[in-house]
Amino acid sequence: MKIVSTRAELERARTEHEGRQVAFVPTMGALHRGHGQLMARAHQDGSAALYVSIFVNPMQFGPAEDLDTYPRPIEADLAMCAAHDVDVVFTPTVEQMYAGGAPTVTVSAGPLGGVLEGGTRPAHFDGVLTVVAKFLHLVRPTAAYFGQKDAQQLALVRRMVRDLDFAVEIVGVPTVRDDDGLALSTRNTYLDPVQRQQAVALSRALAAGRAAGRNGEQAVLEAAGAVLADAPGVHPGYLELVDADTFGPVDDQTTYGLLLGQIWVGGTRLIDNVTLDLRVPAER
Ligand code: PAF
Repeated sequence: MKIVSTRAELERARTEHEGRQVAFVPTMGALHRGHGQLMARAHQDGSAALYVSIFVNPMQFGPAEDLDTYPRPIEADLAMCAAHDVDVVFTPTVEQMYAGGAPTVTVSAGPLGGVLEGGTRPAHFDGVLTVVAKFLHLVRPTAAYFGQKDAQQLALVRRMVRDLDFAVEIVGVPTVRDDDGLALSTRNTYLDPVQRQQAVALSRALAAGRAAGRNGEQAVLEAAGAVLADAPGVHPGYLELVDADTFGPVDDQTTYGLLLGQIWVGGTRLIDNVTLDLRVPAER
């Protein structure tokens, strides 16, 4: 496994894989089984080389967010990459990624960037898309892998790739969960044991919403909302049902919905989502 931290080193490594299928998993490090699943899927898809980036991107953090405290366990991350047969790990510094300082020309996430997560994190998705665009230019992968837990991020990356004609396939990989249902996330490490128990309310709420799926949007939101309202230590953020394809409102034509939730447990923001089959069952 090659570990490179400059653009020049990355380019040298990349020329060795010219003309072959290159898979890319962008990460902010603090790797867990969810990231492992992205790497495993990239291998399953038969890529000739797997590239992983580890970069805590300042552009996607708000001023009061956890940029300084975000975990950076680089040795453990590299060990995990090695265990997943990664070919090249790219660990740039902020100066390498933003050589001219904070960029003045950035990718705008558009209307979808200003709702749900973007409703309380105004520049977050512009920051995500700008760094993902830069990585896609630098790594030049044939396929890039993103977790479905960050469904809005995945939808926006797909939209950017379509709207701006990036020649890359974007692959969404199902969320990995702990046994009790909690979606794996680096920020779960911020939770103390009591908060960790409380946090499972989010996946329970989404499951309750999904179970009410055939009874309409109102029933879905009520069922999920009731679980969160009763959950100790949990402050609900948003709970919304959207069309899984468009991220717009659900209507009679919607086949699959996406129920998205955000909660706060102590000072930690957690998100999760589930897909709902909204097709009306056939009459018997
Ligand atoms: O999902 C993440 O870890 C980050 O948002 C990403 C895609 C690596 C961009 O910094």
